[in-house]
Amino acid sequence: MKRIVTVLAGVGIAMSSFAGTVGAEQAEPTSIVSKQEQQKMINVAHRGASGHAPENTMAAFHKGFEMKADYIEIDVQMTKDGELVAIHDTTVDRTTNGTGAVGSLTFDEIRQLDAGSWFGPEFAGEKVPTFEEILDAFRGKVGILIELKAPELYPGIEEKVAEALIERNLQNPNNEKIIIQSFNHESMQTSKELLPNVPHGVLVGGGWANVTDEQLAEFATYADYFNPSMGIVTHELVADVHEADMKIYPYTSRSQEQALRLFDLGVDGIITDYTEHVYKHPVKNS
Ligand code: G3P
Ligand code: CA
Repeated sequence: MKRIVTVLAGVGIAMSSFAGTVGAEQAEPTSIVSKQEQQKMINVAHRGASGHAPENTMAAFHKGFEMKADYIEIDVQMTKDGELVAIHDTTVDRTTNGTGAVGSLTFDEIRQLDAGSWFGPEFAGEKVPTFEEILDAFRGKVGILIELKAPELYPGIEEKVAEALIERNLQNPNNEKIIIQSFNHESMQTSKELLPNVPHGVLVGGGWANVTDEQLAEFATYADYFNPSMGIVTHELVADVHEADMKIYPYTSRSQEQALRLFDLGVDGIITDYTEHVYKHPVKNS
């Protein structure tokens, strides 16, 4: 078993072994992370830098930007009165001091909620941001990986997202790093028709470990990314996704070991709560 030593942002982290941590594929890493590998790995700050700040708030997105993520990932839903907002759950209960379904509350009602205190008192007063605020604050500065969350609850959300992007001229191939993804694959087909030059992705859960080449080929007719739960990623899956001419950004890495395993498997990007685990800093091998 190889030993791996990384130096991240000046802090040495000794990784003595992966054996027995998370299954057979992780137990035998075949390579060590080189500086070159780190430099080309796409680093996606999941819900913003959500290991350091309350998810899907401007504080988390700014933190991801400051930490030099390549992309911030945001979850987009729609209020009762048609405003696009960034929030993960389909209710406000977990991440704000309010209660109720996102789609049953008006924007004014949601905007009054505190979306930061649950994470820490220093974030008291953080608001649920609008999609347009996020675009205006971060376009051209950092990539934006837009997840349409539960779009089946919000008829017309694909059109609203497209309108906001087109208003800002973000619909073109040179689109300042915008990607749209969803677990709802029909929604992605709809969105791709509206925004044919914007890269799209299909998100899949742990039940897709045995995805076939035919299924991947079908996804590739409208998607550029196949983004799975990280537990199902293997060398073979990565090769199959690449063979289908898509990229693969697994979610959600929350430890250094998990990030290094994904490096070893040859993925194109890592969606992580901890940007520092995928940092573009020198790596020392031993
Ligand atoms: O970007 C992928 C990831 O965000 C999907 O899972 O539940 O965190 O939205 P979830
Ligand atoms: Ca998400």
